Amino acid sequence: MDYQCIKLMHAVLLWVIAAAAAAAAGTASAQTIAPDCQATCGGVTIPYPFGTMEGCYLNRNYLITCNNTFSPPKPFLRTGNIEVLNISLVDHYLRVLTAVGSDCYDETGGRRQVTARTTLSRFPFSNTRNKFTAIGCDTFAVIMNGMNGQSISTGCLSMCDSIQSVTNGSCSGIGCCQTSIPKGLLNFNVTVSSFSNHSDILSFNPCSYTFLTEEDSFNFSSADLIDLQNRSHVPTVLDWAVGEQTCEEARKNSTSFACQANSICFDSNNDYGYQCNCLAGYQGNPYLPSGCQDIDECEDPNLNQCTKNCINTLGSYTCSCPKGYHGDGRQDGEGCIPDDRLLAIKIAIGISVGFLALIIGSSWLYWIHKRRKFIKLKEKFFWQNGGLMLQQQLSGQEGSNETVKIFTAEELEKATNKYDEGKIIGTGGYGTVYKGILVDGRTVAIKKSKIVDQSQIEQFINEVVILSQINHRNVVKLLGCCLETEVPLLVYEFITNGTLFDHIHDEGKASNITWEARLRIAAETAEVLSYLHSAASIPIIHRDVKSNNILLDDNYTAKVSDFGASRLVPMDQSQLSTMVQGTLGYLDPEYLQTSQLTEKSDVYSFGVVLVELLTGKQVLSFDRSEEQRSLAMYFLSSLKEDRLFQVLENYIMKDENTQQIKEVATLAKKCLRVKGEERPTMKDVTMELERIRKMKNNRRIDVDLNSEVEYLFSKPSGAYIHDSSDSTTLAYDSMKYHVILPVNDGR
Ligand SMILES: *[C@@H]1O[C@H](CO)[C@@H](O)[C@H](O)[C@H]1NC(C)=O
Ligand SMILES: *[C@@H]1O[C@H](CO)[C@@H](O)[C@H](O)[C@H]1NC(C)=O
Ligand SMILES: *[C@@H]1O[C@H](CO)[C@@H](O)[C@H](O)[C@H]1NC(C)=O
Ligand SMILES: *[C@@H]1O[C@H](CO)[C@@H](O)[C@H](O)[C@H]1NC(C)=O
Ligand SMILES: *[C@@H]1O[C@H](CO)[C@@H](O)[C@H](O)[C@H]1NC(C)=O
Ligand SMILES: *[C@@H]1O[C@H](CO)[C@@H](O)[C@H](O)[C@H]1NC(C)=O
Ligand SMILES: *[C@@H]1O[C@H](CO)[C@@H](O)[C@H](O)[C@H]1NC(C)=O
Ligand SMILES: *[C@@H]1O[C@H](CO)[C@@H](O)[C@H](O)[C@H]1NC(C)=O
Repeated sequence: MDYQCIKLMHAVLLWVIAAAAAAAAGTASAQTIAPDCQATCGGVTIPYPFGTMEGCYLNRNYLITCNNTFSPPKPFLRTGNIEVLNISLVDHYLRVLTAVGSDCYDETGGRRQVTARTTLSRFPFSNTRNKFTAIGCDTFAVIMNGMNGQSISTGCLSMCDSIQSVTNGSCSGIGCCQTSIPKGLLNFNVTVSSFSNHSDILSFNPCSYTFLTEEDSFNFSSADLIDLQNRSHVPTVLDWAVGEQTCEEARKNSTSFACQANSICFDSNNDYGYQCNCLAGYQGNPYLPSGCQDIDECEDPNLNQCTKNCINTLGSYTCSCPKGYHGDGRQDGEGCIPDDRLLAIKIAIGISVGFLALIIGSSWLYWIHKRRKFIKLKEKFFWQNGGLMLQQQLSGQEGSNETVKIFTAEELEKATNKYDEGKIIGTGGYGTVYKGILVDGRTVAIKKSKIVDQSQIEQFINEVVILSQINHRNVVKLLGCCLETEVPLLVYEFITNGTLFDHIHDEGKASNITWEARLRIAAETAEVLSYLHSAASIPIIHRDVKSNNILLDDNYTAKVSDFGASRLVPMDQSQLSTMVQGTLGYLDPEYLQTSQLTEKSDVYSFGVVLVELLTGKQVLSFDRSEEQRSLAMYFLSSLKEDRLFQVLENYIMKDENTQQIKEVATLAKKCLRVKGEERPTMKDVTMELERIRKMKNNRRIDVDLNSEVEYLFSKPSGAYIHDSSDSTTLAYDSMKYHVILPVNDGR
């Protein structure tokens, strides 16, 4: 036999037993009978220690004879004739049928008396559940026994004279009487007699009856007075127990002790023996090995008090609460209560989610509102900052404006890290210059104007327009502008090496720019100014030429910047009358006097820059005497006194460049002429500087710096007028204007 087969047989066997037990017990599913024993007889369950055959009962006292000649079969106690109705394992009773005694009369005076006798061998009648009962209206009944060799008798008396006088359901001496029986009654006979042969009551009560019966199963009614004849037997209860000792005594012999595992022993409340019951939480037959089985209280909601989770244990069960709850989980207890902590968390989450939603919602609305306001403001700034003017100006020209980009405020804010102070690379009267990095990685200089009044707006637009027209390698390139902010912003290419001013006047840096570099810077600057004056479509006067506005890149290449003050000069006008603008020290004295702006103003300013390059001295110095406070005057007087080499920057002096220095000094002197017309044009200056730069043979020529240097110009290309000059007064015969100005005037 293979394992599967054994398993199958085992399962079948278990099923048979379980089915049999279930059918027998009705409600009880646990085992209550010994295996292979007859479980029922005629519908009566026969649990161990009772049994119908040898080996099935505890001993012969528990033998139940099942007489199959009846249909259905009837169980009888032992081999006797006492029919069994019920065997209760839990309450330890046997319900049996016992005979009824009677005493009947008829009209003829005939009498038929029956004495009922019941004898038990073992189990006594229950003195608590049975009542000795007599029925009749002329009746006295006696119950007698011979227990323990003694004769004990008791009885009751019932009288009545009409059927109306009896009460249904009441057995209290009128038509019916009852009395208790003594404990331990094992056998009895019941006899009933009359006092007057029922002579007056024959019509409604011909018979008297008496019996010992289960109190609960008998309900007296007036009908019983008329006829109880057919009821020859009534149910009576016996108490049963095992052994003959008390629990304490019986326990001593473990082999004979009837109570099995998980059971408890009781002393019988009748005279002898003990009884076994399953422990609480177990059910089944306590007299069988492992007969008491644990009850799964959790399967039956009626058996447990759990509100949520039920856990069966041996003999009991426990209730638990799901996660997040606490309490005993019992319906009769506190049940399951949500954890405070969990509740608190839930509340907290609820509140914070709500709060968050509120914040998000309101800040969204606020943002929309602010954004609208911001857009309006930006538009306002755009117009205020001359956006229209710029658009018109730019649209008036062709081609060149495509290089100028209009930046958004956000772009520049991002580029400068919100105008971080660490990004400032320069401040001045015009405003602040920030270093910024655009999204595309380009480094730019962003010029933020300081004050916004209409005149500055014009300057600003001017610069945009002019720079948009210029495309020169020595001019700082304008990349774009932004008009959306309160103050307009200009975006330039970033020039890495600072201003020429810094390099000239910073002790540490001055030595780094050699004479050749200075000469080249001068030439480049001159070239730019020359280009502005002539090459561009409309002449442009820079108006603020100074070392501060000449930026240097890493190679010391000059980049002219700051066209804020520049003017476009229409072709037909050679001079403009404007408000005097410029920087003290560089300002053309003639322009200062006349307010007549010409290209020559730039030439003068450039002359000052040349002197700066030569001497390395400040343009204005209060260390010098009053007449020489301005560098131009100081330089010119030095030349006059032939002290050029005393005022030169130390670093540039070399034997081989003496000639170049002298010629540049001469050129500077010309640029600084008081009368604009006498100054060379920027084109002349540019060519002269180029020529000086190309001087290879530094032959030492003694040049009288105060005499004419006409021969130094390789080819006088324009109407270049060379004149002797005086340091204090200048007179020009050939000039249109004969103006004599004191040089130190207007400062
Ligand atoms: C069964 O009952 C009948 C009728 O009362 C009786 O004659 C017979 O002996 C009984 N059988 C047993 C086995 O007691
Ligand atoms: C006892 O007998 C009565 C009537 O015959 C029946 O209703 C009841 O269910 C029985 N009880 C048991 C435990 O067998
Ligand atoms: C039963 O009743 C009879 C009379 O009917 C009586 O003689 C007898 O002693 C009584 N007792 C017993 C135990 O049978
Ligand atoms: C007995 O019968 C009467 C009516 O005949 C009824 O009212 C009463 O409830 C019954 N008592 C019991 C215990 O059955
Ligand atoms: C009852 O009947 C018997 C005989 O049947 C008789 O001897 C007796 O006197 C009667 N008793 C009464 C009170 O009538
Ligand atoms: C008592 O019960 C019987 C039948 O059970 C009935 O005929 C009779 O009328 C009842 N008597 C009273 C007073 O209710
Ligand atoms: C009751 O007894 C009478 C007379 O003896 C009889 O005719 C009737 O059939 C019996 N009833 C029952 C239910 O046994
Ligand atoms: C214990 O019980 C067994 C079986 O009933 C019996 O044979 C034995 O003598 C008993 N022992 C004592 C000490 O009573």
